[in-house]
Amino acid sequence: MKEIVLSGIRATGQLHLGNYYGALSKFVRMQEEGVYDSNFFIADLHALTTHPDPKILHNNVKSILSEYLAAGLDPEKSTIFVQSDVPEISEMFLLLNMHVGIGELMRTASFKDKARKQLGIKTDNDNDDNIEKEIIGTDSNKRVNAGLLTYPTLMAVDILIQHADLVPVGKDQEQHLELTRRFARRFNSVYGVEYFKEPANFNFGGNAVKVPGLDGSGKMGKSEGNCIYLLDEEKVLRKKVMRAVTDEGPKAPNSPMSEPIKNLFTLLELVSTQDKVKFFTDAYNDCSIRYGDLKKELAEDIIKVTAPIRERIIDIQNNDEYLAKAVKMGAEKARARASKTLEEVREIMGIKRFF
Ligand code: TYM
Repeated sequence: MKEIVLSGIRATGQLHLGNYYGALSKFVRMQEEGVYDSNFFIADLHALTTHPDPKILHNNVKSILSEYLAAGLDPEKSTIFVQSDVPEISEMFLLLNMHVGIGELMRTASFKDKARKQLGIKTDNDNDDNIEKEIIGTDSNKRVNAGLLTYPTLMAVDILIQHADLVPVGKDQEQHLELTRRFARRFNSVYGVEYFKEPANFNFGGNAVKVPGLDGSGKMGKSEGNCIYLLDEEKVLRKKVMRAVTDEGPKAPNSPMSEPIKNLFTLLELVSTQDKVKFFTDAYNDCSIRYGDLKKELAEDIIKVTAPIRERIIDIQNNDEYLAKAVKMGAEKARARASKTLEEVREIMGIKRFF
């Protein structure tokens, strides 16, 4: 029996280098290893938690699907599907929510972060308990929707309904994966069954990836406005990299690197050769480094990765027939396993049919 791999990306816009190195490049590599039962989807229901314009949501789904295929996912080798094409997920979401605590959801970092953004509260402190009071406050609760709160339940269902063993995701999703394992254990213990497995992140033996942004701090993210997109034109991409935040340069040999410089090196390690990384590290350590040179090399090496993908995206995104065929095949396969799981979960929970 092959190990089951499952992962997804929210349909909230174009994919950036964070999505690529944290997720998509690993999807492709896992598919190509040929030893997994690979399943990759586009999370359009999750995208609803941040209220996308209904006119553009479908285009976002289409663009991620094109990016999946352009990066190398192959509908003949992997099951590629759209989350909302598997309605069993929504039913099981309702069932699993019966065993999820409001408190544990409110303490999830991603919820606090998004709730804070929606309420316009600025704080870097993940443990800020005031946020919970703000959310419950009468004025604010209108703006933080229950879908956002129950986001981790829906993600757990995506994973558990396919009985996934491995879930390749970036570092920012590890807490959600931890919750998924907790919900699986809880379900098994409440009903006295050994039904759900506990899925694990997968990084080919390495640590979970966190791709930094170009603005000197934090991770690359759509809402952070610090992204390099797979679809960025070369000119745009070069400009973005050349404008990345740096510092005044090392003042003494072997000084520690500031956050923005560390970030540039993290990006360099992802896209460049080890020799080039060593060259610039040595130059930093002996104070001869010129950040302009580093940025130029970085931009060209990023382009080497993104340009061929970009070309294929442009090719594929208008091929509606190919796109439709890919997700139709995927939906059939994903539904087959999901409906079997749902039937079993209903049975375990005591929802029986008369007919
Ligand atoms: P999403 O859409 O926010 O991100 C998709 C994937 O990209 C990774 N990622 C990053 N990795 C490294 N560095 C970054 N700067 C960076 N930014 C994004 C994320 O870790 C993720 O792997 N909840 C998920 C979607 C989802 C899902 C699932 C994933 C829904 N159901 C079931 C796996 C299994 C999400 O919001 O990803």
